[in-house]
Order: sequence, then structure tokens, then C-alpha cells
Amino acid sequence: MPKKLIVVVGVTGVQGGSVARLYAREPGWKVRGITRDVSKPSNAALRELGIELVQADLDDPVSLERAFEGANIVFAVTDFWQFIRDPSVLKEAEKTRKRLNEIACEREVQQGKNIIDVVSKLTPPLDRFVLSTLSNSERVTSGKVKWNLHFDGKGRYTDYLKATYPDLAAKTSYLYIGVYLDTWKNPLMRPVKKDDGTFALQLLRNQGDLPIPYLNAQNDTAHFVKALITSPQPTAVLGGSRFLTVVEFWRLWAKIKNVNLVEEVVDRIGDERIPAWLQEEMADSKTFTQSYGWAGGDPDVKRPEEIGVEMGKLTDIERWIEEEAYEGFL
Ligand SMILES: *[C@@H]1O[C@H](CO)[C@@H](O)[C@H](O)[C@H]1NC(C)=O
Repeated sequence: MPKKLIVVVGVTGVQGGSVARLYAREPGWKVRGITRDVSKPSNAALRELGIELVQADLDDPVSLERAFEGANIVFAVTDFWQFIRDPSVLKEAEKTRKRLNEIACEREVQQGKNIIDVVSKLTPPLDRFVLSTLSNSERVTSGKVKWNLHFDGKGRYTDYLKATYPDLAAKTSYLYIGVYLDTWKNPLMRPVKKDDGTFALQLLRNQGDLPIPYLNAQNDTAHFVKALITSPQPTAVLGGSRFLTVVEFWRLWAKIKNVNLVEEVVDRIGDERIPAWLQEEMADSKTFTQSYGWAGGDPDVKRPEEIGVEMGKLTDIERWIEEEAYEGFL
């Protein structure tokens, strides 16, 4: 039987890399990874696994047409935070007097639409499109949450797909990826270490306390995607190996690391060194995920065990925390 082809957007990134590495070992599959720069030395490890690398740029639909040709499966993800670090985004924000996250969101939506437009034109053998997404929180909350833009860009192009291409929507599955365990590296995503050695977990007034999904995305994204691909009907899943409230997560962490955690209710996250737009982005993200739910309470978004994710293959987060050195933090 001829091998099936999975084309992976973002093959050098966390989610795409996980999917490509798993499918490179699956019998009966070929993997094509698309990347902007095929000549990077770090690509050698992917090539050694037999992954074909094709140059394409998410801002250039013609390059995507070539890259997606012949795919049975396309897995796609876009990266909001890469735009925040892009000097041209800063320039555009200054010129237009918009916030940095607004321009980043606009750029991300455009890339998502480019991918969707090209995938919508693929004829068989395309069996399924798997899209890493998050909610459009502004729509879900009728405008009450306005600045959760690192979710909303993905949500907006997902809404565009459903409204514009019903035939493609009938073949599309969604991964609502959870919190990466390594986000502790971002000082805004962890407790504050005090001089006396205790750790203060800052909680916003009224931020909510619903459980959210946590995962080792580098290793485990692929297991969620595999379940979405094997599922007989297209579906949607929360990408988490454990579901915990933020307080439960950090209490567990403090117990494993044998440190003292105190909870502190604050009016804003971080201090005056954090730009206002970023404080508002973080605050709205907490409000959305912890008051409305990671996927805004959408009943079509399933728990992993409901769609056949191989739960035993997912990283045990307690072991992950034990083994992580938390260098520069602990
Ligand atoms: C993640 O995957 C890497 C590479 O396959 C492996 O070396 C590592 O042990 C895995 N980590 C966990 C926590 O499973």
C-alpha cells in the first residue's frame, strides 16, 4: 500500500515538531515538514528521522500550495508570540497607534486565513485537516473579554473557516492546546520568589478558578493529534494530560519541590516594568480561561479520554516537575 502523507506546518516548533517526530516513526506514513528556512543546521535532526523539509512561508499562499500538494493530512499551527518579538510589528504598532498585541493578532489571523484558503482548495486525497486552535474569547463572552488576543487570533480564523468553507469544516478537527509545562520560564507565568524563600502565587481578584489543561507539549502534542486523525468523525479536543486549577497546579509544584507557597490576591500581575498591554492580555486570559473555561465551555470540545487519546503515553506531570531543575527560579 502506498504510504500516506502528513504535511506539518511549524515543523521546527514545539507542536509541529512533536507531530512530525511521532509520524516519522509510524509505519505507513511519510512526513513533510514545512519551514521558512530549510538550510538551518538544526534541521539535520529532522532529516535524520526521514522527514522531508520543504520551504514555504505562511505569508506566501503560493508557496503553501506547493507544500500542501498531495497531502492526506495537514496539521497546522500559527505562533502569536513570534510576532510580538518582530521589529516590523513594533513599527506598525507605533505608526498605527495600535497595541503590539493588536498588530500581532492581525498578522496571525492573516497567516491562518492563508493556510485555510489553500487547504480549502485541496482535492482528495485530503482526508482531514487538523488545526491547533483556541477560542475567540471576544465572541464567546460577547465582548466582556477583549484583550485575550493570543487566543482570539486563532479563534477568529477558526470562525472564518467554519463560515467560509463548510466542505472543509466537515473534514476539520481541532486541538485546543493547553498550558505548556515549561511556561514557568516566563516570569509572568509563575509565583514570585520572596527574599525569605517563600513563593507568592499572585491571583487576580475575580479571576475564577476552573481547572485548565496542562501538558508537556514537546512530547505529547502528537498523541492528541493522532487521536484526532484516527477518530472516525472530525472532532475537537482539549490538549491536556491533567486538568487542574492554577492554585492546585502550584500547590502540587510546591509539594514536589518542597517549598512554601503563599497565595496573594493582587489587582494586577507583575509590576510597573510590565507594559500595560501585556498586563491586560494576561489578566483577560486568566478571566477567560478560569471563569469561562479553556474552550469557553463549548460542549463540542471533548476531554482527551473521550476521543481515544492514549492517556498512558502522556507525560506524567508530577514526574516532569520532579525532573525539571527550574534553573534561575528555584
Ligand atoms: C520527551 O521526549 C524526549 C525525546 O524523545 C525523551 O528523551 C524524553 O525522555 C521525553 N520526556 C518525557 C518527560 O517523557
